[in-house]
Amino acid sequence: MRLTKQEVEQVDREGLYKDYEAWPEQAESTLKSKLDLKEVDVSKIIYCGMGGSGCAGDILQDLSYTRTNIPPFYVVKGYHLPSYADKSTLVLAVSYSGQTEETLSTLKEALDRRCPIVGFSSGGELARICAEKGIPHVKLGAALTPRSALPHILYSTLIALERLGYQVVSPDEIVNSITIMRKMRESIGVESSLKDNEAKQIAQHLLNTTPIIYGPQEFKGVLIRFKNSLNENAKVHALVEILPEACHNDIEAWHQNLPNHRAILVLGKYDRRLKKRFDTLAELIERAGSEYRSIYIREPSPFESMIKLLYLLEYTTLYLAVLRGVPPAPTPNIALLKKRLSED
Ligand code: F6R
Repeated sequence: MRLTKQEVEQVDREGLYKDYEAWPEQAESTLKSKLDLKEVDVSKIIYCGMGGSGCAGDILQDLSYTRTNIPPFYVVKGYHLPSYADKSTLVLAVSYSGQTEETLSTLKEALDRRCPIVGFSSGGELARICAEKGIPHVKLGAALTPRSALPHILYSTLIALERLGYQVVSPDEIVNSITIMRKMRESIGVESSLKDNEAKQIAQHLLNTTPIIYGPQEFKGVLIRFKNSLNENAKVHALVEILPEACHNDIEAWHQNLPNHRAILVLGKYDRRLKKRFDTLAELIERAGSEYRSIYIREPSPFESMIKLLYLLEYTTLYLAVLRGVPPAPTPNIALLKKRLSED
């Protein structure tokens, strides 16, 4: 299959690909939104969100790692806030639908503990509670699914944090990241042919395999997101391993023939020690009779690099779904589970 636009449309009947095509515009639209938020002075930040709404939290956490102006940043993907959440903890409660019970539970706990809170959703119960309790709420723009609304979520939370007094990335980096997506769309979008399209080629590399994704710490959030979208769009299992930690455990598993495993090696900014680790890993994968493909990401700033990687990998998951003949938009198992939970 050449993954032509027509072939994509035959499988992606709901047109999820159109959301991905619109990622630069989604990001741009958040820059224009008027956010009425006042500065706060806190000692910690907790981002609460599940699945597609949680991914932006992982990315913000990775970005904040090297920023001295950002207090410790935690991500909660579950029902409860940690014991250290108190009046000096900013809580960002993020649910695209506004209906996710884990996020609503953390929102209620944050209210009980008198944390400063900002809610983010496209509507739903989360928006209702925010209105009732007088909590600032940011309305997220329209998209077909929470995962394809990632720029709405990521850029809205970034801008909100900036207004609250915590600038995670500079305005220039934000603008540049949108330009990067615009340029990339030409080469990785549905119109671009297989021979020029890295996302289509990676999808082919991963067809009929269990992908194992390796990358450095700085891309952890983006790579978890890749795994999640491989699960939700392409409906396949996938593993994520972060270096250097994987050199202390995972690499030992490459001692046997693993013909169904395929690796993706994501390399960021040049680091001699890390390069040696990746080179040895590549050698071990080959010795085990498997194949790998490397992706090099070296944009001027960490945020621009993350956006480049994110967009490339997200398209990859869409194309893998098409190659497998699975419509990427519906997530019937997640829907079934949510229905079961709502019956109580
Ligand atoms: C992604 C997706 C799920 C949801 C998750 C939480 O497209 O559908 O991962 O993001 O179930 O739901 P929300 O985002 O509405 O809080």
